[in-house]
Amino acid sequence: MKVLVVFYSLYGHVYKMAEAVAAGASQLEGVDVDIRRVPETLPHEVLEKMGALEAQKTLEHVPVCEVEELADADAIIFGTPTRFGNMCGQMRQFLDATGKLWQAGTLIGKVGSVFVSTATQHGGQESTILSFHISLLHQGMVIVGLPYAFQGQMRIDEITGGSPYGASTIAGGQGERMPSNNELEAAKFQGQHVAAIAKKLTS
Ligand SMILES: Cc1cc2nc3c(=O)[nH]c(=O)nc-3n(C[C@H](O)[C@H](O)[C@H](O)COP(=O)(O)O)c2cc1C
Repeated sequence: MKVLVVFYSLYGHVYKMAEAVAAGASQLEGVDVDIRRVPETLPHEVLEKMGALEAQKTLEHVPVCEVEELADADAIIFGTPTRFGNMCGQMRQFLDATGKLWQAGTLIGKVGSVFVSTATQHGGQESTILSFHISLLHQGMVIVGLPYAFQGQMRIDEITGGSPYGASTIAGGQGERMPSNNELEAAKFQGQHVAAIAKKLTS
């Protein structure tokens, strides 16, 4: 049983969530978890202007995902920062390169799941995940979210991401907030939940 966590992260928030998702999936016996980032499309100078070079150093050891790797996974959990309420362009470009897999129906019946990061509480937490699901449905994937069994999504005593659609974090306007404990727990839960469902589907 193979779970693939595929993400893009400019300032490290989604990466932190991706690590928690992977840790959650790894908790299940007999599950292999790989973590990959999608190719960067921005030139170095633009990354520098965006103040992202330091954060990029912390994740450059993560292998870049090859489209073919999706074919080997039983479940794929995608992580993206929001861009105007949608997935980021780097992830869009990566998904747009999966036409060959779509043509062959390779991803049909595999589990697909999404987690996100936004700057603000209402700047795309839900829309980014739900609009991402459209691409996964076109690929014939079985969508899995974050069930209310993860009770942390009910919290109102602190600011928190997390919804039935998937785990999420709120990075702040300057990226000053890293994922909270509750958000990381949500990510772990989602990873484990996806792995458990994929295990059932493949048994
Ligand atoms: C071009 C652009 C568009 C963005 N659009 C939104 C948005 O619509 N809503 C929002 O809350 N944050 C938005 N953000 C902020 C990012 O989502 C935020 O930097 C990201 O979640 C941080 O995650 P990362 O460190 O993993 O990249 C935008 C950032 C950029 C650069």
